[in-house]
Amino acid sequence: MAADRLVLATRNAAKLRELARILGPSIALGGLEEFPGAPDVPETEATFEENALLKARAIARHTGLPAVADDSGLSVDALGGMPGVLSARWAGAHGDDRANLELVLAQVADVPDSRLGARFVCAAALVLPPEGPAGGAPREWVVTGQVAGRLTRVPRGTGGFGYDPIFLPDGSDLTTAEMTPQAKDAISHRGRAFRALAPFIAAAMPSASSRYPDLCCGPRRREGAPAARTGSTGFHDREDL
Ligand code: IMP
Repeated sequence: MAADRLVLATRNAAKLRELARILGPSIALGGLEEFPGAPDVPETEATFEENALLKARAIARHTGLPAVADDSGLSVDALGGMPGVLSARWAGAHGDDRANLELVLAQVADVPDSRLGARFVCAAALVLPPEGPAGGAPREWVVTGQVAGRLTRVPRGTGGFGYDPIFLPDGSDLTTAEMTPQAKDAISHRGRAFRALAPFIAAAMPSASSRYPDLCCGPRRREGAPAARTGSTGFHDREDL
């Protein structure tokens, strides 16, 4: 992989395709299958942002290339924001979507309809490895995308994955499992987070600067957003529905 390439810290082909669609052809994007020795980074942190940064840092360190990672999940108001970062393993067995969803439905069984608010959240992080032989701190950015909605009482739809059959986005009569992939992409937390990160990726990668000419010379302050920062804390932007 050439130095002007970007690696996405995932083995999930759908995520790779989604980010490639958002970034367009000017950014050369690869996944972890190109790096057989890449570490599997456990999501041990308490927030989506820190988990995304943890994975992007590890992959940037391992590959020496700019790395993007994401972490996402469902946050239910009546459960104090849970399952949150535990979404994938809420019912214990990692990746058991049906058990996870049924446990959430059981936990809100006595919650009135008026308090079934929930949201999908995704944090996406970009980490650039230190430049030059002197090393130094990596440069980091992290952004968050959300889609607000409410839980249904019973699962509906066969598309998507995870909690999609019980999530009704605000303004929609369809659960995200009943939507086409394109319709879900357009409003999804992941789509929003990746789209928010794209200008920062373009600014950091000269090969892609023509796509975002206003960001041609490095990360800059966006209108209405906090200044991008370098170092361990990074830039944090929040995009609400
Ligand atoms: P990860 O960020 O890919 O590790 O996803 C964590 C977990 O959050 C998944 O296993 C799902 O349970 C849930 N999740 C994340 N995004 C979605 C989504 O778009 N639809 C349904 N469930 C999701």
